[in-house]
Amino acid sequence: MKKILLIVGGGIAAYKACELIRLCRKAGIEVKCVLTAGGQHFVTPMTLAALSENQVYTNLFDLKDEAEMGHIQLSREADLVVVAPATADLLAKMAAGIADDLATTLLLATDKPVLAAPAMNVRMWQHTATRRNVATLRGDGVTILEPDEGPMACGEYGPGRLPEPEAILRAIQNLWEGSGEGVAAHTTVTTAPPLTPPASGRGTLTGKHILVTAGPTHEPIDPVRYIANRSSGKQGYAIAGALAALGARVTLVSGPVTLATPPGVTRIDVETAQDMANAVAQALPADAAVMVAAVGDWHVEAAAQKLKKEGGAPPTLHLSENPDILAMLAASPRRPGLVVGFAAETEQVVDHAVAKRTRKGADWIVANDVSGDVMGGEANAIHLVTADGVEHWERLPKQDVARRLAERIADAL
Ligand SMILES: Cc1cc2nc3c(=O)[nH]c(=O)nc-3n(C[C@H](O)[C@H](O)[C@H](O)COP(=O)(O)O)c2cc1C
Repeated sequence: MKKILLIVGGGIAAYKACELIRLCRKAGIEVKCVLTAGGQHFVTPMTLAALSENQVYTNLFDLKDEAEMGHIQLSREADLVVVAPATADLLAKMAAGIADDLATTLLLATDKPVLAAPAMNVRMWQHTATRRNVATLRGDGVTILEPDEGPMACGEYGPGRLPEPEAILRAIQNLWEGSGEGVAAHTTVTTAPPLTPPASGRGTLTGKHILVTAGPTHEPIDPVRYIANRSSGKQGYAIAGALAALGARVTLVSGPVTLATPPGVTRIDVETAQDMANAVAQALPADAAVMVAAVGDWHVEAAAQKLKKEGGAPPTLHLSENPDILAMLAASPRRPGLVVGFAAETEQVVDHAVAKRTRKGADWIVANDVSGDVMGGEANAIHLVTADGVEHWERLPKQDVARRLAERIADAL
């Protein structure tokens, strides 16, 4: 039986943690709860204990629990630590590594994955400090769900509502399906159920199928070695997630990365450029394609045996060109209505991207300068090259680039 440690923070949405416990139990997941001092203003330990049928922990300095270093044990015995609602305060403490109560000490002491479902007033969510904390935590490997958008208890409107308990449960299950096993082997397919019901109205991608590629490719040299690149897959995964959040059916063809599948996304794991080309062709038809993957240009005419040092001259690697997936897709009779390519450049970024758009037959090219820390980093400054010209976007967290691009795609389709 899978176990979660649920940390309930001090927000209005704490009552939804009760429903989350009920749903987790129904799904066969054992739940132990930690209720912060803030959280106790909104729900009682008694309610959580009754629903979880487990002791509820509230105090770090509890002599009885600490007789056996209870806080360390508690942080390690679950398969996953879930923070819901994750208040602005909890996110800030987590990002800073503060451990001044039971919840934050557990979060610092745990060796298990952490998933946080934030809930707060829209201004708090959009505050630079919270944006910074969320980016830091995502960079640290914490899964942070996007809050829902809508009317809030405080009377304001916007993103900040706790995702529905059903969506949090799906994200938990999805994390278990996608985690760790992220290193690809040819074409493994995993489908993550939708995180949130699709938004309605303008910008909605409901009914659209969008193909996204992400990550690097691995080109084998021999049975144990390969040529790769530094792509982390973060930008492509963020785009796949943002498109799914707008209601699209998303197929993500992914090179070998260690990221969890974004909620609502069907992921096809591939290894080589040729595998990726095949998977892209099989995923058609699509209404749009966003080709973010850093596809290797060449493959090695692979040695059947492991290359060995035999005292003579070093071995020579014979390289052959890989398929040009973007150009093939753009020229295909089953061409998606909107084809978006990515250009990773180190010089004359915009000029090369403008030329690439024409050369490859893409509708848009998203150009980024990868001479800095973009590959593997958390932020990206991009130039969007379309038939109408070039837009220069300010440096943004990759999640924000993804959201903005997804909205542009929704407007275009
Ligand atoms: C009525 C009320 C509602 C609140 N709702 C939220 C909320 O939804 N999200 C949030 O981040 N903080 C909210 N706060 C502020 C937190 O309760 C406060 O920052 C607290 O220190 C958080 O405690 P925690 O770290 O235990 O979560 C609210 C405060 C009050 C008085």
